[in-house]
Amino acid sequence: MCGIVGYVGPKKAEPILINGLLRLEYRGYDSAGIATMEKTGIKNVKNKGRVNDLLSMKEIESLEGTLGIAHTRWATHGKPSSINSHPHMDNSNSFAVVHNGIIENYAELKKELEDKGYKFLSETDTEVIPNYIHYFYKNSTETGETKFLSAVNKTCKLLKGSFALEILCNDFPNSMIVVRKDSPLVIGTSETENYVSSDIPAILSFTKNFYLLNDLEFAYLTRDAVTFYDNNLNKIEKSVTSIEWSAAAAEKDGYADFMLKEIYEQPRSIRETIGSHIVTNGTCQFDGLNLSKEYLKSINKIFIIACGTAMHAGLASKTVLEQICEISTEVDVASEFRYRTPLVNDKTLCIFISQSGETADTIAALKLAKQKGAKTIAISNVIGSSITREADYTVYTHAGPEIAVASTKAYTAQIMLLDILALYFAEILGINLDKVELMKKELLEIPAKTEKCLALANEVKEFANKVYKEKDIFFLGRGLDYSSSLEASLKLKEISYIHSDAYAAGELKHGPIALIENGITVVGLLTVPHLVEKTVSNLQEVISRGAKTLIVTNQDLGDKDFDKVIRIPEASEYVSPLLSIIPMQLFAYFISKEKGLDVDKPRNLAKSVTVE
Ligand code: F6R
Repeated sequence: MCGIVGYVGPKKAEPILINGLLRLEYRGYDSAGIATMEKTGIKNVKNKGRVNDLLSMKEIESLEGTLGIAHTRWATHGKPSSINSHPHMDNSNSFAVVHNGIIENYAELKKELEDKGYKFLSETDTEVIPNYIHYFYKNSTETGETKFLSAVNKTCKLLKGSFALEILCNDFPNSMIVVRKDSPLVIGTSETENYVSSDIPAILSFTKNFYLLNDLEFAYLTRDAVTFYDNNLNKIEKSVTSIEWSAAAAEKDGYADFMLKEIYEQPRSIRETIGSHIVTNGTCQFDGLNLSKEYLKSINKIFIIACGTAMHAGLASKTVLEQICEISTEVDVASEFRYRTPLVNDKTLCIFISQSGETADTIAALKLAKQKGAKTIAISNVIGSSITREADYTVYTHAGPEIAVASTKAYTAQIMLLDILALYFAEILGINLDKVELMKKELLEIPAKTEKCLALANEVKEFANKVYKEKDIFFLGRGLDYSSSLEASLKLKEISYIHSDAYAAGELKHGPIALIENGITVVGLLTVPHLVEKTVSNLQEVISRGAKTLIVTNQDLGDKDFDKVIRIPEASEYVSPLLSIIPMQLFAYFISKEKGLDVDKPRNLAKSVTVE
């Protein structure tokens, strides 16, 4: 989704802004633009295409200003084109605006402005913003900064939808205003310069100190100060949040792609997630999560709500929560949950998972659950992200920045965190303590076993290279292997563009088997001991119809006619999803590479889905 960067300081802004845009590329975009404050006023350069296309434009060379804003656009209103790219300016070219989000009532606002004589050049929802700012500014009797701030504030009050905005004004050549509502934006700060970005990794090499804005808070930035205002323009104080991620963590570190690096980081990210929540004396710990035994006894349902891969992490942990905590657990897709009048009340605990913490549907679902009286826990990988500021409680995965669009290390860290959370609840409830101890022991062994799974890469690659030209690849599994199959299939389709579906193996006869024809590839996941025989029978049915089979298992399957068996380390069914997914992530990766695709930035996808 759109990315924004801003800079004000003593240095030339353009290279810093371009560097930030390049680091935001992973979010997905189709056009890019930059506006800097020059001696002659705002200069705006933009085009459709990649940041490198923008960089090759002649006008870029002439940008000397030390204050600037920049944007990567992911088209929503209007096709990718130079005119629709950001920054957008008002009719008098006095204000430049970049915007991440969607203005839902832009058609109405556009009509009002047209009636006032304003003309529109683009098809975007954004262009109403600089023009309304201009309208309020022109008609204001205020003076100085207040006049600028108040024109922006009045405009924001008209906007319905989501927005993170950076605004420049010709009358204030040393300042920028930023504001956000339901769209991400952070301010990086140091003594002599200030930065703005959609997310932390983009500016991590410049600073580790950040200010986090809440909805409808405004920041007025100059090179040596950031002043904050609430939505009535009263000054407010904010403290700096320091981020521990290293700048190197947001680099490829010698790997060909971020995705590969992130797959290989899993032993470490899982270890860090364990280390933060299973303390040395072996008890589970979640600082700040004040859930009493009485409360946990009183709840009759846990809802896990998320999108995509994060939702699959919920599915992988549902069984553990149900079996170990004895609490009925339902997993739902956030975009479904928010529109289906779910049965949620003060006896429901709702857990929201979001790597980015900025996914629009997940945040909306969280707000709904709160309105209905549920207690809410956010699980996120990004400190201070929107979801963490909405939820009653937050727990963090310790995966480090995840840059590749396809989520890998965040997924396993999410499952690990949910599993430890289940053990923690059981410890508070005082139930199934023998199972808790056994599972804890198993979880502590996972990082080393993950390393063993990574060592299977060559075997996986060999099979991937045989099937990379396929049009369809199916995944089968039962129980927890079914949830892992869903994730394996999502990974494959995302980055290889091969059509893929995952089926509960028992469902095969109820329809999908009609798709099986000679030569088709079917992947079977078999880690749940009491279901192995049944899944093997299903696989035999596809083999007898000519399917090629790849099997991922830690069970003894006897001598069967499978084309390739990948043996992962032994583990109980509860923790196996943390292992079986690793060869599947590698499978998707190697197929995508063999097809010559952009693994880190698959087409049409965005890392952070900040609009509905
Ligand atoms: C798939 C993937 C997406 C995300 C989904 C939710 O590889 O990355 O399916 O899992 O968009 O994103 P977050 O976790 O940021 O809410």
